[in-house]
Amino acid sequence: MAYQTLIVETAPEGAAGVVLIRLNRPEALNALNAQLLGELAVALGEAQADEAVGCIVLTGSAKAFAAGADIKEMSDKTYAQMFKADFFTAGARAVEQCRKPIIAAVSGYALGGGCELAMMCDFIIAADTAKFGQPEINLGVAPGIGGTQRLTRFVGKSKAMDMILTGRMMGAEEAERSGLVSRIFPADLLLPEVLAMAAKIAAQSPLAVAMNKELVQAAYETTLTTGVALERRLFHSLFAFEDQKEGMAAFVEKRKPEFKGR
Ligand code: HXC
Repeated sequence: MAYQTLIVETAPEGAAGVVLIRLNRPEALNALNAQLLGELAVALGEAQADEAVGCIVLTGSAKAFAAGADIKEMSDKTYAQMFKADFFTAGARAVEQCRKPIIAAVSGYALGGGCELAMMCDFIIAADTAKFGQPEINLGVAPGIGGTQRLTRFVGKSKAMDMILTGRMMGAEEAERSGLVSRIFPADLLLPEVLAMAAKIAAQSPLAVAMNKELVQAAYETTLTTGVALERRLFHSLFAFEDQKEGMAAFVEKRKPEFKGR
């Protein structure tokens, strides 16, 4: 599909098995509008359907991952319109329900819906220039696609309240210290480093990757007892796949495994 608000590249910079999705509305600092979220859902659906894809990287520009939902598109909407359109729910679900791993590579602003979008991904790698925030309070509203819930789980109640009630931004170091971000790189190294990480994930067994993703997600959704029980079941079930035999045989034979997704 020809995208107008995204640039989608397969195997960028030689990163085999990786799809790079770049948000591309430079005139609005990649603000999320209905078109962009619709296109993102299509791009994720295509990546999900393509057996050659093992990992997805979502990024923006050097200045902004995304500066929020598009305020100009939203400002005149009525409650009835927001409710009927179930505003941004479909777009958010496409990210939340993607079974392949999505890494958010964040440079510059990740504000409002942009911060929420990054948090919906499986993990966030930040450039040292990254700035995260939920400034909706300044507009007289609240985060609407998971920000109050996910930020609180990432950084705890005190910092989430501080961020959401004051609308302040936090830099990359504070974000890493607080558990929002997994790693930080200098801005010019961000993409090559994330693509290398994504290629490494894409070279693993796609079955094991999907199950591992599901298990870590379950840690957010269930009790410890249920989560551990699910882990045991999925761990046992991985022994049904050829990839488990290949992975363990390769270790014993001191060679690299060749996973086939079977
Ligand atoms: C629409 C936006 C935008 C946004 C920036 N722009 N953010 N347009 N929606 N969220 C536009 C500006 O209007 C401007 O267009 C151009 O992008 C460049 O932005 P500037 O403000 O000139 O850049 P700068 O001075 O560098 O400031 C950067 C900034 C600021 C600090 C990020 O743009 C800003 O505060 N943006 C809004 C951030 C925000 O409030 N986000 C939360 C949105 S609500 P023109 O045409 O003037 O050049 C939200 C709710 C989520 O996300 C709920 C989901 C359902």
